[in-house]
Amino acid sequence: MNAIFTRSSVRAFEDKPVEREKIELILKAAMSAPTAVNQRPWEFFIITNREKLEKLSKVSPYAGMTAKAPAAIVICYRRDCRLPEFAHIDCSIAAENIWLEFEELGLGGVMLGVAPYDDRIKLAGEIIELPENLVAFTIIPFGYPKSKHEQKDRFESDRVHWIE
Ligand SMILES: Cc1cc2nc3c(=O)[nH]c(=O)nc-3n(C[C@H](O)[C@H](O)[C@H](O)COP(=O)(O)O)c2cc1C
Repeated sequence: MNAIFTRSSVRAFEDKPVEREKIELILKAAMSAPTAVNQRPWEFFIITNREKLEKLSKVSPYAGMTAKAPAAIVICYRRDCRLPEFAHIDCSIAAENIWLEFEELGLGGVMLGVAPYDDRIKLAGEIIELPENLVAFTIIPFGYPKSKHEQKDRFESDRVHWIE
């Protein structure tokens, strides 16, 4: 469980590709996440194409690091899943599993806010040429960290409310 306490967002990457076996482990971790009614609404797009990464870096004003990342995962979900109102939650939990697996594998990345903004969803979808039934949820540029800050202890006892 150390990964939970050592994980932090990584926005600067070594100029080194990530091994395919590691990416497959990351996706196994993602798909181990729980989902509402076990609907597993996600589809994962792994982008290593430099031109696409550069385009994805312009999906929002806060996505610039994607241009220099060796790879990015775009988590998408199917519009026709059983309970689409839970799809964002399902994708978020999968994203958390991805970060924790990054930590295990000596990798790092950062979640970029795409959904719920319609303009970002549309642009990301156009860049990776999503079919109509898929919605882009988030972009996660990742790779071997060039630098990484230490996570501080974030426990705040006054946020905890015991009802006994
Ligand atoms: C829903 C969500 C959206 C985020 N969007 C961005 C983003 O667009 N750009 C960015 O650099 N970081 C983004 N982040 C990363 C947060 O800034 C980061 O998780 C937060 O500052 C805490 O730092 P840590 O992850 O290093 O613990 C996002 C995180 C979440 C959970």
